[in-house]
Amino acid sequence: MHGHDPYLQEQLDYYRARAVEYDQWWLRRGRYDRGSDLNAKWTAEGRIVATALADFRPSGRVLELACGTGIWTEQLARSATTLTAIDGSPEMLAINAARVASPRVTYLEEDIFAWQPDTQFDVVFFGFWLSHVPPDRFDTFWGLIRRCLAPGGRVFFVDSRHDHTSTATDHGLPEPEATTLRRRLNDGREFQIYKVFYDSTMLEARLRALGWHVEIRETDHYFLYGTGQAT
Ligand SMILES: C[S@@+](CC[C@H](N)C(=O)[O-])C[C@H]1O[C@@H](n2cnc3c(N)ncnc32)[C@H](O)[C@@H]1O
Repeated sequence: MHGHDPYLQEQLDYYRARAVEYDQWWLRRGRYDRGSDLNAKWTAEGRIVATALADFRPSGRVLELACGTGIWTEQLARSATTLTAIDGSPEMLAINAARVASPRVTYLEEDIFAWQPDTQFDVVFFGFWLSHVPPDRFDTFWGLIRRCLAPGGRVFFVDSRHDHTSTATDHGLPEPEATTLRRRLNDGREFQIYKVFYDSTMLEARLRALGWHVEIRETDHYFLYGTGQAT
């Protein structure tokens, strides 16, 4: 599917296999349980991002890329007129549809690196996806977002900060400069995937150079989130 890049296939295979246990990460359960203090910090910081997304008012025609199990789809579906939710994993899409159960949501099983929009959106959202875009596809990915947006359209994204307690207890976190890492499932299977950690200031500058005005904020430990528009 991904031509010369085997990691992209491995990355999708990883998420397909992980779909049933994916929410343990967000809910800080199992291998992601870091004890009550850190779990509480994680949850509080997640709420800050959810509040920022509510304040952003993702209304009208909304597109969510790499929607996963629906952690954000649920919130987006409440304010969108229509929500198109894309993911390459049928397992993720099935969990998402069962959870969100909204007639406003249209699900598309697509490879984001091959998919092209045939309509435009008022808002494009992606959660914990930019960090999985290979560095050499960064510009192309933002070109896709530009084509997805109607004039005046806006983008919101959230992603990981580099914090050792964000990942599973049996995952090492490589240095911030690394762009791939190994991930393990509960059953011990291992996969190599992309994971790019961005410095907020450098990411803003990089996006400015591509013709975006994006403001990025950070929570204390775990998350960064950006809002903006093409200029
Ligand atoms: C880190 S998860 C993020 C899920 C969700 N946005 C969230 O915040 O919880 C990455 C998602 O990207 C999907 N994915 C991986 N490779 C993909 C590809 N090439 N095309 C579309 N989706 C892909 C996975 O199935 C998974 O649902």
